[in-house]
Amino acid sequence: MNKITIAIDGFSSTGKSTIAKQLAQKLHYIYVDTGAMYRAVTLYAMQHEYINECYFYKDKLIENLNKINLTFHFNDKLGFAEIFLNSVNVENDIRTLEVSNFVSKIAEVPEVRKKLVEQQQELGKNKGVVMDGRDIGTVVFPNAELKFFITASADKRAKRRFDELIKKGDKVTYNEILKNVESRDHIDSTREDSPLVKADDAIEIDNSDLTLTEQFDKIYRIVQHKLGDI
Ligand code: DC
Repeated sequence: MNKITIAIDGFSSTGKSTIAKQLAQKLHYIYVDTGAMYRAVTLYAMQHEYINECYFYKDKLIENLNKINLTFHFNDKLGFAEIFLNSVNVENDIRTLEVSNFVSKIAEVPEVRKKLVEQQQELGKNKGVVMDGRDIGTVVFPNAELKFFITASADKRAKRRFDELIKKGDKVTYNEILKNVESRDHIDSTREDSPLVKADDAIEIDNSDLTLTEQFDKIYRIVQHKLGDI
């Protein structure tokens, strides 16, 4: 059967990566979490003290971008590929609230975007890929055969992220998370380079009131229909 490219974009904490992982597993496609790539660059910037609450040495980061090597390695137990930053598994370290608080600043930098978009295009060049992010259907793969745009209310998204972090043992408050979600929405959709917008041909799915199973069934039906068409 012909393989296609599936782009999944949308606001933060909409559960894009859960859908993308499920789809990739079901279809035996590669899954690429592009948010993880921006997060790993953010972690690198934090580790090298290019960014903190008071400053952001953007030029330093740009100057050292070629020292950042991101790779994905499939984890059989988890069923998806984890991200490595310069050969170190950072899959967990990139999911903290601290990284979430800086990542939109890093993702605004055109040089960072250029580097990551090139790598994403390379990873998906043979199709058979499900990629999730903010600009997959608009910039990375504007010709993707299937594009989804996932939305949910800020309140629902903050609650889901809060529950996730608490379960992991992080000490965070709901209000902190809501503030982070709202601030990332704002920065992601108003930045100059590749802002988060719905591609004209993307199918919008509001999952505020859908269970994971309902959402997957809905999306998988659309995918099957598409695969039957080509
Ligand atoms: O999907 P996520 O929450 O892990 O993404 C983290 C941040 O990375 C998000 O706030 C915006 C940025 N991002 C982006 O600008 N472009 C992408 N393709 C993916 C993520």
